[in-house]
Amino acid sequence: MAFKLLASLLALTAVSNAALVRKATCADGRTTANAACCVLFPILDDIQENLFDGGECGEEVHESLRLTFHDAIGFSPALTKQGKFGGGGADGSLITFDTIETPFHANGGIDDIVGVQKPFIAKHNITAGDFIQFAGAVGVSNCPGAPQLDFLLGRPEATQASPDLLVPEPFDTVDKILDRFADAGFTPAEVVALLASHSIAAADHVDETIPGTPFDSTPDVFDSQFFIEVQLRGTSFPGVGGNQGEVESPLKGEIRLQSDHDIARDSRTACEWQSFVDNQTKLQNAFKAAMAKLAVTGQDVSKLVDCSDVIPVPKPVTGQAHLPAGLSQNDVEQACAATPFPTLPTDAGPVTSVPPVPPS
Ligand code: HEM
Repeated sequence: MAFKLLASLLALTAVSNAALVRKATCADGRTTANAACCVLFPILDDIQENLFDGGECGEEVHESLRLTFHDAIGFSPALTKQGKFGGGGADGSLITFDTIETPFHANGGIDDIVGVQKPFIAKHNITAGDFIQFAGAVGVSNCPGAPQLDFLLGRPEATQASPDLLVPEPFDTVDKILDRFADAGFTPAEVVALLASHSIAAADHVDETIPGTPFDSTPDVFDSQFFIEVQLRGTSFPGVGGNQGEVESPLKGEIRLQSDHDIARDSRTACEWQSFVDNQTKLQNAFKAAMAKLAVTGQDVSKLVDCSDVIPVPKPVTGQAHLPAGLSQNDVEQACAATPFPTLPTDAGPVTSVPPVPPS
């Protein structure tokens, strides 16, 4: 009797172990860890083809990544403590309540991608909060050098708009930016890691005369050039200059945010910033971890299903960390007191000029 009981217990354990490792096969033959994730494959195919122009790391990817942040950072326990609504975090409120949130000053230009994403949400059975983070993770996978971001499914519909003034501005002080992120649950090191997003980014509205002006010389590759180039002495403005939140950049055609400039040089963040120069593995791991946190800000993770294996694996980084042609180590504004800036090769050829990110 005891033997029979033990045998059936063992059999039960074997079955449940198998259930843990067995993958679900979806209608189209693709597999995923959890059958609940199968709904994502048709959405993946649709957005790769029709939102990201056949799997590019272009403007819509950049805008979709920015949107993941602007939706998620709408979360303030400090406001909740004061008895006010602090926002629902990564809940899709930026799209659900777009008429309220897109006009917020810090959301300038975000209405573009909101307008582009809305029909995809309407077409597929998915909440705005899930779609925003899914599109961000899929989009980033199109950028060589990026990590495969996590994606958890199951955010409920947002119930209220986020309050204004929770999204950082490029003209905010480092104190203000770090305080805002701390309120939302992020350390200064995580802030620096999240800023790796500006490695695949451009500005349309900081200087309205030069839309699509990138923050680094490789806006379609997730690499450390952003961390290198922001550390170089600024010498000119790419456009008319004198814009709020903009400081001089080292390269023609490249724009620099005051906030990026200041965070790269602040004693609380400078060494973390420098640590990403020429360390692609650290850059990937830190960004992946910080994005995983950002994507579930304000959400009850115990109610979400891990569908990370639906996100495509990005291609490896192309090129190696370098100083742009025409510049040298002497152009580095050393800010980390503990360790010297890594010695990098300089690109051969004429002085680099960065072309704009084309609109699609
Ligand atoms: C200190 C915090 C931050 C500030 C002040 C800031 C500010 C800005 C500004 C002013 C722009 C240009 C918008 C335009 O003119 O079109 C921009 C673009 C962008 N930001 Fe940030 N940002 C911050 C953090 C982040 C984070 C945490 C992420 C993502 C995780 C992010 C992702 C992006 C992306 C991908 C773009 C490019 C959008 C495009 O090319 O269309 N940013 N950011």
